[in-house]
Amino acid sequence: MDMKQNDIIQKTAEYIKQEFSNDSSGHDWWHIYRVWKNALAINEHEKADSFIVQIAALLHDLDDWKFNNNEDETPLRAKLWLDSCSVDISIADKVCEIIKNVSYKGAGVKNKMDSLEGFIVQDADRLDAIGAIGIARAFAYGGYKNRMLYDPESTPEMHQTFTAYKNSQSDTIKHFHEKLLLLKDMMNTPTAKRIAAHRHALMEDFLDQFMKEWEGQDW
Ligand code: ADP
Ligand code: NI
Repeated sequence: MDMKQNDIIQKTAEYIKQEFSNDSSGHDWWHIYRVWKNALAINEHEKADSFIVQIAALLHDLDDWKFNNNEDETPLRAKLWLDSCSVDISIADKVCEIIKNVSYKGAGVKNKMDSLEGFIVQDADRLDAIGAIGIARAFAYGGYKNRMLYDPESTPEMHQTFTAYKNSQSDTIKHFHEKLLLLKDMMNTPTAKRIAAHRHALMEDFLDQFMKEWEGQDW
């Protein structure tokens, strides 16, 4: 990575830190920061293009459908930012393609990611959705969306379309079954698969204990 690219990464980190400073949905700057660092750590093993991996990690949630009305479209804010930094059009296109495909869109919806850089950023993002931090973020997001912690009278759904997933009003425990517990088998890289295994085990222990307490079986 040359000097200029390094400057662009630093400048982008500052921009994103500002943009995400006030979030309380689990998508604050420190989520982006962890994804950036996770992506770098995975890339130590995968040896993909470090500039593309880093810039895509930093910009990955800027146009997220959960906060913008532009699902599945070109990520406009990221594109504008890349243009303003004079990033080569061919690189900017690759970054936008990654951002467009990074999000989870339902248990039965096919992953369209198709580059090594994209696989790495997607794994880094997914690692931050599981384990102890994943549990914390899930309940933060649930609160932000006025969701119940757990509704014993409803059952999880394996969404076959993005629309069904997006419109779901699940309680947060259901979200574990509809997404978080599925992520370990959806990791793209061997490095992320390895880290995901123990984060996954922790979520299973948490859910076991949650259900025991719910039923008063831990007395
Ligand atoms: P993705 O783009 O794959 O959704 P994000 O980085 O935007 O990934 O983060 C998703 C986060 O939002 C996860 O931590 C997840 O737990 C949380 N989240 C998304 N939908 C729900 C939901 N219905 N209930 C609880 N948490 C959710
Ligand atoms: Ni994210």
